[in-house]
Amino acid sequence: MAELPLDPLQRPLPDGIVPEPVVIRTEAHWVMIMVAMLVVMMAVIVVTGVTGALHPASNVEPIDPQTLHLGGEFAESNLGTALEPDGSMTVRLIAVQYDFVPHCVRVPADTPVKFRLTSADVVHGFLLPGTNVNAMVVPGFVAEVRTRFAQAGEYEMPCHEFCGLGHHAMWAHVSVVPKDRFPAQSPLERTHCATQ
Ligand code: CUA
Repeated sequence: MAELPLDPLQRPLPDGIVPEPVVIRTEAHWVMIMVAMLVVMMAVIVVTGVTGALHPASNVEPIDPQTLHLGGEFAESNLGTALEPDGSMTVRLIAVQYDFVPHCVRVPADTPVKFRLTSADVVHGFLLPGTNVNAMVVPGFVAEVRTRFAQAGEYEMPCHEFCGLGHHAMWAHVSVVPKDRFPAQSPLERTHCATQ
């Protein structure tokens, strides 16, 4: 039987034990991989945020949820779709247990659309499947998201934050019409999708 060295550091390691330099090297590799993943994820957040493909919660715009109906931006007459001087659209909605007001809005395709929402009661969610629109609607704040609908069609708009017993039934609609058909829409059609 071979003699073991007296110095314990000189003895061979038992089976299954990895030498320290290998451990250090492996850990360093993994740290580099983690740092690279963090850099890539931060870059994705910054690029998608700057290009408007994603909406990081950025604009802190407080509003008093108890006086929404008394006047100001979210008074009833201001809700729905409004045409801006530059040709873009602004859609104002109030989320309330358990509906969006108005329940349906109409916008033109291939046009910049800015949604501005606030809540009258609890936290709701605002999601347009197939688009970049996904926001929390928090009472006391205005949520603002921008998008552009490439194609005409009907978009369902579910609330996706649990807001109470009626949460599952809280849906609204965005009706996107071809750009050349929008000017012919009456005000009631634009803001409520109502036919006159
Ligand atoms: Cu509103 Cu869920």
